[in-house]
Amino acid sequence: MLPFHDLAAQVRDHKVEIDAAIARVLASGEYVLGSEGRAFEAEFAAYAAAPFAIGVASGMAALELALLALGIGPGDDVVIPALTAVPTAMAVLSVGATPRLADVQLDTVLMDPASLEHEITPRTRAIVPVHLYGQCADLVAIDAIAARHGIPVIEDCAQAHGAMDQGRAAGTVGIAGCFSFYPTKNLGAIGDAGAIVTTDAALAERFARLRNYGNRGGFDFIEPGRNERLDELQAAILRVKLRHLAAGNERRRANATRYRAALPEAKLRLPVERPGVHHVYHQFVIQSDRRDALREHLAAAAVATLVHYPLALQDVEALRTRVVFREAPRRAAEAARTILSLPIYPELPAAHQQQVIGAILDFAA
Ligand SMILES: Cc1ncc(COP(=O)(O)O)c(C=O)c1O
Repeated sequence: MLPFHDLAAQVRDHKVEIDAAIARVLASGEYVLGSEGRAFEAEFAAYAAAPFAIGVASGMAALELALLALGIGPGDDVVIPALTAVPTAMAVLSVGATPRLADVQLDTVLMDPASLEHEITPRTRAIVPVHLYGQCADLVAIDAIAARHGIPVIEDCAQAHGAMDQGRAAGTVGIAGCFSFYPTKNLGAIGDAGAIVTTDAALAERFARLRNYGNRGGFDFIEPGRNERLDELQAAILRVKLRHLAAGNERRRANATRYRAALPEAKLRLPVERPGVHHVYHQFVIQSDRRDALREHLAAAAVATLVHYPLALQDVEALRTRVVFREAPRRAAEAARTILSLPIYPELPAAHQQQVIGAILDFAA
């Protein structure tokens, strides 16, 4: 079977640097919130074009801390898109607030600004657009709606390291940008990790406190917080992988270009790039009314695919009774039936990609 990911390939490619990073941490005696973490924060902030980055334990923790820092909790609602990874919704639930679903646009599978505006209520305290598959949601439209209603935007950038919208880096348009470094992400750790970027110095300090029991230094605990710290081993490995992120994103984009050139637009819907975006192709997601048959055909041809995601959030068992909306997000449910993610990882061998393309052409013929 041709794999969907090959996470070990990236480690193999940079093994000497990664081994040196691990050895440095082991010898340092500093394992949590130390010099590697601080260096990674500075380097990731520079990459993300943000003044501040705060390392945390996961992408979900980044979202939770951003919501907590804005004082969001029980009685509040937070608008999120109806098709995203479940942690976008789980983070809202974990601070005691209610996820309110905006529908997505069918072609891009990104938050639909018109649906967002329709879902805003007097209880709405934040808007969380998700830059799904490596492409920024329409930040100009979303930011304008948010500004008109006086509601902050928290960007879910878990799939969008290096993405841009109209020349602005993902994570720098809203009040905070939340990144995941889960191993499959464009920048992936060897375990769980995440970061929050912000342009606001006071918020940056707050995030740093909230990840560490509300600590301001020494034994000065000034507010209730959590333990959502980034460890030194992950930070040191992320520093190595960050140096290769831009090249990896370019390889993903080149793979996308090859798929576009070879796949039959007439029989499949290829991913739509919004004007003015820099897409980093965390996933290459095609749409087909015969998705399940295509997926089975590809599996029979030894090509592994995935579906991100098979259910809209209102249909996920854990969320069904916990999310709210004025209008049921029908387009998200429809997209969930047609989307199919093809292998696009940076190390994807050209021959494997040809095999994927060949199998799809064979199905479409
Ligand atoms: C869109 C989105 N948001 C949030 C997360 C949560 O990140 P993590 O798995 O690091 O908690 C993920 C990844 O799983 C994601 O894809």
